[in-house]
Amino acid sequence: MAHRKLEPGKLVVASHNKGKIREINELLEPFGFEVVSAGDLDLPEPEETGVTFEENAALKAHAAAKASGYPSLADDSGFCVAALDGDPGVYSARWAGPDKDFAMAMRTVEEKLQSKGATDPEQRRSSFVAVLCLAWPDGHEEVFRGEVEGQVVWPPRGSQGFGYDPIFLPDGKDRTFGEMTSEEKHGGSKDTPALSHRSRAFRLFADGCL
Ligand code: IMP
Repeated sequence: MAHRKLEPGKLVVASHNKGKIREINELLEPFGFEVVSAGDLDLPEPEETGVTFEENAALKAHAAAKASGYPSLADDSGFCVAALDGDPGVYSARWAGPDKDFAMAMRTVEEKLQSKGATDPEQRRSSFVAVLCLAWPDGHEEVFRGEVEGQVVWPPRGSQGFGYDPIFLPDGKDRTFGEMTSEEKHGGSKDTPALSHRSRAFRLFADGCL
């Protein structure tokens, strides 16, 4: 299916999260867009009421496109554990509570796996998912999903990255995301294939719309 191309000009990153805005800025810089964030424009932050990554990314992107009059890009991401029916999924941030306590969130994942007797690697399958939605003021949208598969390991390993990185061992690697540098985790430079869910989604977005 043909994707609508994004013409050079102003692009709103529909996020109030500084880390996310920086990462998206870095990825978009080479393409010559004038990137502004929803925070810069004082746009309201919509509540993430969706039950899928696609719904949440779309509601953020459309809200920003409508309010600003410019094409807007949003992402939604999370950690999905197969034996927990995909949890924490869209609730990945919420499992860490108001204090953003990811040590606790990772422990919760492990306790739930233990209570199911999930000790073998094949019972501990998990993935990171990132969905990007680019929305235009006329209501058109393009959606891209990136995933990386692996398994939950315990105890947590490594202190790089963030969130659930220390308990995620991607398939084919012997180090967790928490033990990788940012370059290794994302991959996707000239010589390496994209590895992280986010860089895979970005690759699809760039191929489709840029
Ligand atoms: P979002 O800001 O609504 O997209 O929530 C994303 C949440 O998913 C984060 O707070 C993390 O808990 C988790 N998450 C997403 N991507 C990653 C990653 O690359 N590493 C670790 N955790 C992640």
